[in-house]
Amino acid sequence: MKTINRAAIAGVSGYVPDDVLTNSALQEMVNTNDEWITTRTGIQERRILKGEGLGTSVMAIQAVKDLLQKTETDPETVDLLICATITPDMITPATANIIAHAVGATRAFSYDLQAACSGFLYGLDTAAQFIASGRAKKVVVVGADKMSSITNYADRATCILFGDGAGAVLVTTHPPESGCGIVDSICKTDGIGQNFLYQKAGGSKLPASHETVAANAHYIYQDGQTVFKAAVTAMSEVVIEMMARHKLTPADITYLVPHQANQRILKLVADRVAIPMEKVMLNIHKYGNTTAATIPLCLWDYEQKLKKGDKLIVTVFGGGFTWGAMYIVWGYDGL
Ligand code: UT7
Repeated sequence: MKTINRAAIAGVSGYVPDDVLTNSALQEMVNTNDEWITTRTGIQERRILKGEGLGTSVMAIQAVKDLLQKTETDPETVDLLICATITPDMITPATANIIAHAVGATRAFSYDLQAACSGFLYGLDTAAQFIASGRAKKVVVVGADKMSSITNYADRATCILFGDGAGAVLVTTHPPESGCGIVDSICKTDGIGQNFLYQKAGGSKLPASHETVAANAHYIYQDGQTVFKAAVTAMSEVVIEMMARHKLTPADITYLVPHQANQRILKLVADRVAIPMEKVMLNIHKYGNTTAATIPLCLWDYEQKLKKGDKLIVTVFGGGFTWGAMYIVWGYDGL
């Protein structure tokens, strides 16, 4: 299909629950300590969505409502809403359908997209294609995960990492001559990752049963060291590939926006691509790993500092394995 439009982010918003889970609170739950968590991951606290019957959509709805309000967007003008999540409210309907209904996006079609920690970047790339082809003029992409719903708080290897949150962006058309917008994306997948990062039960292969619950098979499992190494290699390579494609030097980049999985991973990636840490967006210390929400939550946190023309490289890595990079020239001055 012929490319006729350039997609650009026109606004960003986020939502994190009020309840804070600190490292010292985790110390009371499992055999760990603040020093280990801080030095090995950079995480100091994370937010947890508490309350009976509250799913991922609760956070996503808040983020999208705020986004539509701040960008003065009539919900009925939204053409498409994509929700990236691995913790949908339920298997069906899609959480995106629930969000679209709640925010009054009655004209939009909507669906969920599952690519673990890469879900938001995949969703943003999809939105950019719908805009480029002319099929859509306004797309909302929301990355949201209630990781506390699949985290085993008796497993110190994983429970220290994850938090809950949601972030959303509005993607619209932008005049290509401005040079701003989503310039390029690279998305990659290697199914070998199924062996190292997964939630075993609850799908069609191993439906929920007394046995799966007793075996803790509905919680997320990770071979941390394997994922760590794969994440550093994959994110570095794809950032270097993106910079080479567009003849970008580290000095040209305003911000590297990496998936917030572990501060040590971010430092290693930044070193390998020769981008100084002052140019790396960071919020892992306060939210932990919120899976599909980390990238939009970073953009939300840094939005006020961003200026039109700033050059951003987003990079992600997650379960699957899935990974990728996106080159964005920011389209507006910080709000
Ligand atoms: O978002 C999707 C992608 N995810 C990631 O990119 C995460 C990648 N992995 C990681 O971030 C790290 O591998 C972890 C933070 C998960 C683990 O850090 P690590 O430096 O790889 O630790 P390790 O698994 O090699 O464990 C080192 C030691 C072990 O003890 P021994 O065998 O040396 O006695 C663990 O049992 O640390 C122990 N350990 C802990 N100790 C205190 C593991 N978890 C903890 C803990 N507190 N929470």
